[in-house]
Amino acid sequence: MNYRELGPTGWKVSEVSFGAWAIGHAWGQVDDKDSLAALHKSIDMGVNFIDTADVYGDGRSERLVAKVRKERSETIHVATKAGRRLDPHTADGYNSQNLTAFIERSLKNLDTDCLDLVQLHCPPAEVYYRPEVFGALDDLVRAGKIRYYGVSVEKVEEALKAIEYPGVQTVQIIFNMFRHRPSELFFAEAKRRQVGILARVPLASGMLTGKMNKTTSFATDDHRNFNRHGEAFDVGETFSGVDYDTGLAAVERLREAVPAGATLTQLALRWILMFDAVTCAIPGAKRPSQAEDNILAAELPALTGEQMRVVRDVYEDCIKERVHHLW
Ligand SMILES: NC(=O)c1ccc[n+]([C@@H]2O[C@H](COP(=O)([O-])OP(=O)(O)OC[C@H]3O[C@@H](n4cnc5c(N)ncnc54)[C@H](OP(=O)(O)O)[C@@H]3O)[C@@H](O)[C@H]2O)c1
Repeated sequence: MNYRELGPTGWKVSEVSFGAWAIGHAWGQVDDKDSLAALHKSIDMGVNFIDTADVYGDGRSERLVAKVRKERSETIHVATKAGRRLDPHTADGYNSQNLTAFIERSLKNLDTDCLDLVQLHCPPAEVYYRPEVFGALDDLVRAGKIRYYGVSVEKVEEALKAIEYPGVQTVQIIFNMFRHRPSELFFAEAKRRQVGILARVPLASGMLTGKMNKTTSFATDDHRNFNRHGEAFDVGETFSGVDYDTGLAAVERLREAVPAGATLTQLALRWILMFDAVTCAIPGAKRPSQAEDNILAAELPALTGEQMRVVRDVYEDCIKERVHHLW
């Protein structure tokens, strides 16, 4: 495993880390035993950073992470998120009182006195224009409730706005072989300001593992069934916003770029790591075998110019026109 500096936090985090949404909810049936084993396997292989949220299984994901952290002697940095418990989910809800209550709940779930990193959880765009929200987070840092804070964003423009606030140490954004736009302007800006970048949905909800086809079906409680077109939460999250059949066709062409002896999954993750502005990719994994497949991407040598060209061409030919301007 290789480690990269996470913004100005002083932490060096595993470049392939762990996304803990699927072990919470909204991805079909997941057994806690498998989830715990996936987390342990990841830590065995050098993962020291886990991304979760208070709403993943209404605390289930945070509690599993807490359990694993207690069972291990290694230092494990945990990023959680706040804001999505708001109903309705409005900018006004992002106030000091609500944020404090969400943080208190995550402190309990994660069984700790101070949260390592709290990210605003894809708030409405208006929130980025309210300095008082970031002031409230500064107060929580001063109160010793959270060590650092950052944002999880939908759009590149939100990311650019968010990093104008000096307290924002990290940005979580969708970046994968189907979503190239963050690498244009945002990465340079984030690097200039020494902001850490967490690449979320790195496998386009599993599509970039190459295991899906036209007849693949998903459980009724799997967001790949009920949020395919953004019905339940934001468009752009499920399959990273790429139309399913378009994604399948692009995946077939991407196979050409898979390094000898590697998997398409590993190509997808190694491609993300080719960008030095990225601190880490946070693929979800529901069982140890998936975690292992993902983490081994960090062992691959750098992709060749030719492999990078194939990925770029597939994006230009199949994807760009449909998604580039949306986020
Ligand atoms: N708004 C936000 O802030 C936000 C939104 C989305 C995600 N995130 C974060 O980003 C993380 C990653 O994104 P994601 O979980 O949405 O999507 P992802 O990492 O692109 O895909 C994860 C899913 O792909 C499948 N998979 C993973 N590794 C595999 C492998 N080696 N072989 C075959 N299948 C594999 C698993 O599902 P199946 O086995 O069921 O196919 C897994 O749940 C999340 O866990 C969460 O921490 C944050």
